[in-house]
Amino acid sequence: MAVDLRGRNLLTLKDFNTEELYQLIETGYELKLENKRGQAHPLLAGQTLAMVFQKPSLRTRVSFQVGMAQLGGQALYLGPDDIKLGKRETTEDIAIVTSRFVDGIMARVFGHEIVAELGEHSSVPVINGLSQWTHPCQALGDYLTVWEKKRRLEGINLTFLGDFNNVARSLVFGGLQLGVNVTVGCPEVTIEGKPADEYADVLEWAAEVGPRHNAVLRVLHDPAEAVAEADVVYTDVWESMGEKGTKTKDIFQPFQLDEALFAKARPDAVIMHCLPAIYDEELTYEISRKPNSALFDQAENRMHAQKAVMAALMHPGH
Ligand code: CP
Ligand code: NVA
Repeated sequence: MAVDLRGRNLLTLKDFNTEELYQLIETGYELKLENKRGQAHPLLAGQTLAMVFQKPSLRTRVSFQVGMAQLGGQALYLGPDDIKLGKRETTEDIAIVTSRFVDGIMARVFGHEIVAELGEHSSVPVINGLSQWTHPCQALGDYLTVWEKKRRLEGINLTFLGDFNNVARSLVFGGLQLGVNVTVGCPEVTIEGKPADEYADVLEWAAEVGPRHNAVLRVLHDPAEAVAEADVVYTDVWESMGEKGTKTKDIFQPFQLDEALFAKARPDAVIMHCLPAIYDEELTYEISRKPNSALFDQAENRMHAQKAVMAALMHPGH
């Protein structure tokens, strides 16, 4: 029996348990197969998703919009200059008013508190399309991708290299609950030479939740040690949107994913990156095009996984 997720928000993968995460991944895979067979699945016929963006996007915008159309509904793009989130009226009023018109809201925001506030005051499900703190839809699509490549998630070793950022956090929150061991290889210091204590909350959560799923989070500062035994090597930009100029990029250089570092992972390791990438910073172009690169499968799987999320959370006649 499927777990009923109708009416829930997706703000962080921490809020979903193992069974619920597997259900979303499995549904995403089924929807993908149906889509490849040309089988229509109008599960959200007549429904509308509002897509609120404070930041630019290719994958998130297109995958939600096309995904919603494939589910028989429509999506409405509200860019930074449309509703001027946080500037023209309160986030609370925006949530109340928007949810009178639509059946779901997806929001890409700067501070996580903004999407949390939308979720608190909206009468329809709110989906986090990236906040400074976490990027849950990314990790969900990524674990669908890892499952496709490895046919299992339990016991998989995933190494994330670079900045312990929103994508890394989401991979931890989803991964540990799915039985994936996550290693983050990052510099000891990040911002202006200060100790990188910005992930203290994640360490605390992982220490409590990991043992329940036989999964561990390790934070290592030696890139070679971090990559050893990895089944998946994942990286992301060193400076996220909204952080330009706040970090000394030199400290990330040893964590660049190139041939030499990748050679230290397991021979059949998969290469991942959420994109957009800056080639020759966090990874080389050559690495991104190797046969075991899953970069573009990940991008595609955003749509399939998010369709599962929308179909599960949104429902006719809310
Ligand atoms: N990975 C990702 O979220 O891409 P966009 O910023 O293009 O949406
Ligand atoms: N960490 C990146 C991810 C982009 C999809 C950012 O927040 O800009």
